[in-house]
Amino acid sequence: MLELYLDSADVEQVARFQSCLPLRGITTNPSILAKAGIGVGQLLAEINPVFGEKGRFHVQVVSQTLFAIIEEARQIAALPYDVVVKIPATETGLAAIKQLHGEGIATLATTIYSVQQGFLAALAGADYLAPYVNRIDAFGHDGVAVVAELQQLLQKQQLSCCVLPASFKNTRQVLDVLQAGVGAVTLPIEVMEQMLNHTAVPVAVEQFHKDWQQVFDNKLAFES
Ligand code: E4P
Repeated sequence: MLELYLDSADVEQVARFQSCLPLRGITTNPSILAKAGIGVGQLLAEINPVFGEKGRFHVQVVSQTLFAIIEEARQIAALPYDVVVKIPATETGLAAIKQLHGEGIATLATTIYSVQQGFLAALAGADYLAPYVNRIDAFGHDGVAVVAELQQLLQKQQLSCCVLPASFKNTRQVLDVLQAGVGAVTLPIEVMEQMLNHTAVPVAVEQFHKDWQQVFDNKLAFES
């Protein structure tokens, strides 16, 4: 089943969507946490109960050298939650992913802008790959096409790595990567909001209510 994540550190909004959707967990990055003004320790402690202690949380390292990335990843992985360590898919990042894969630590290769970069991260042993759909589009390329080719390549090469596209600005991008057969997706709150709500729906629901009341007053359906 598709793993659906929110790309957010907003506990209230995550709880809101968790109550109506089968969210798998959340993804974060240093910019999201800095903007929300919340650290990893506090966020995970607050968000874990929202998921009934069954959520999966993707947490990115901030270290930049190989030794420091590996050490930080080990500490993140040791947190008392279901945590996947996000590591930028640079040359150094891939070396860390390769080492951590050997240690059985789950990783997500992030900041992926090309098929070849994602493919090499999968070969290095990443469990998840996060291609940045809208950021690729912003360079004048085709983010959805990158995701689709990466997904096909992994299948042809029989790599079981899960593609988890990120960086969305509209629902069309989301639907297109889902059509490409990805195993996971992470959406910002604004895009999840657009997925869920359509301006025509409340109007239609209100009309049902008015039509019913005109004939049946306040009776419930089973009472009519
Ligand atoms: C998630 O893993 C990414 O860090 C995030 O989706 C990037 O999104 P942005 O391009 O909207 O910053």
